[in-house]
Amino acid sequence: MTLPVQLAPSILNADWTRLAEQVGQAEAAGVDWITLDVMDGNFVPPISFGAPMASAVRQLTALPIEAHLMVEHPEEQIDDFIEAGINCVTIHIESTRHPHRLLQQIAERGAEAGITLNPGTPLGEVEAVLPVCGRVQIMSVNPGWGGQRFIPESLDRIRQAREMLDQCGREDARVAVDGGVNESNIGAIVEAGADWLVAGSAVFNDRESVADAVARLRRALVSD
Ligand code: DX5
Repeated sequence: MTLPVQLAPSILNADWTRLAEQVGQAEAAGVDWITLDVMDGNFVPPISFGAPMASAVRQLTALPIEAHLMVEHPEEQIDDFIEAGINCVTIHIESTRHPHRLLQQIAERGAEAGITLNPGTPLGEVEAVLPVCGRVQIMSVNPGWGGQRFIPESLDRIRQAREMLDQCGREDARVAVDGGVNESNIGAIVEAGADWLVAGSAVFNDRESVADAVARLRRALVSD
C-alpha cells in the first residue's frame, strides 16, 4: 500500500518574528502538516521551544501539527503538548527506557505516536515498538539544527524501516524522514519508501517565497 506523500515543514528555520505569516504561507501553499522541533539543550545542544509555542502555533493554523521531542525525559512533556492541541508526538528511542509505554500513552491520549532514531542508532532498536507506533521517523541528519546535509546512508534505512513495518503487518504506518530534504533528493527519498517528509530550510529560507519553495518540492516529487 503506497500512502500519499505528506509534506511537513518545520518552523525551526522560519522567521519567528513573523511566524503567523510564515505558517499561513505554508498552509496556503498546500502543505499537509506543521512540524515543531522541540529541543531541550540536553538531548541535543540547542534549545528551541516548549509546549507554549505549540499552543501558539495551534492558534495559527488548521493544519495538523507534529511535535518532534528532541528532549530527555519525554514522559514529562507528552501531556502538555497533547493538551496544547498537538496531533502527533514523536519521541526518540534514545531518550527513554520505556518507549513502548510512552507510545501507548500518546495514542491513549488521542494523538498519533511516532518513534524516531538518530543516524547512529541501529534500526533494530525500534523493532519491538513497531506494533504501537503510527510512524517511524528516520533522522537523516544528526538532530539539533536545520540546514544540514542529508546523510546518504539514510536511504537504506528508509528502505529497511518500510520493510520492517510491512513485515509486522503495519502497512498502515508511515515512514517519515527528517533532515536535509530538498528538491535534489526528495525523489530518491520517496522512492526508497518514505511518505512523510519534514523539510525546514527547503521551505523556509531567504532565497524564495514559501509558496515557491513548496511548489519546487512538489514539482521535484512529480518529475522524479
Ligand atoms: C533538527 C530538526 C531538523 C529540521 C529539518 O535536526 O529535526 O532536521 O527539522 O531541517 P532541514 O530540512 O533544514 O534539514
